[in-house]
Amino acid sequence: MSDQLSRRTTLAGAAGLTVGLPVLAACGGGGGGSSASETPRTKTGTVVGPTNDVPVGGGKIYGDLNLVVTQPESGTFKAFSATCTHQGCQVGSVSKGTIDCPCHLSKFSIDDGSVEGGPASRPLPKVAITVANGQITVA
Ligand code: FES
Repeated sequence: MSDQLSRRTTLAGAAGLTVGLPVLAACGGGGGGSSASETPRTKTGTVVGPTNDVPVGGGKIYGDLNLVVTQPESGTFKAFSATCTHQGCQVGSVSKGTIDCPCHLSKFSIDDGSVEGGPASRPLPKVAITVANGQITVA
């Protein structure tokens, strides 16, 4: 039965994607994904964006950078890889204090990236950032 559930949830996740074969391959790979897919597409000095884009108590996903930046408390910014540690989908939203993956509904804390629900067992990897003059930059 769990196999049936797993297949159903994988298909449900795939149905939400219109294109993106690499993502589908990552989701269906059965856990053999490479570590390269879990790292943000950033390097030191990459400008992420203005702090005003990141709501207090929430966060913003920078899909092209594969990065999620959160602001758990006013003036405190955290950043994580946007690649879900379950099967490699990119997280899709930030809501009610968690970073949420659309594929199998894993949830991660906006404060430290720890798992708060769903099938993921590892936290989102942290990414070092600096904040200066209202701009977020990868450290
Ligand atoms: S890939 Fe399965 S919950 Fe994110």
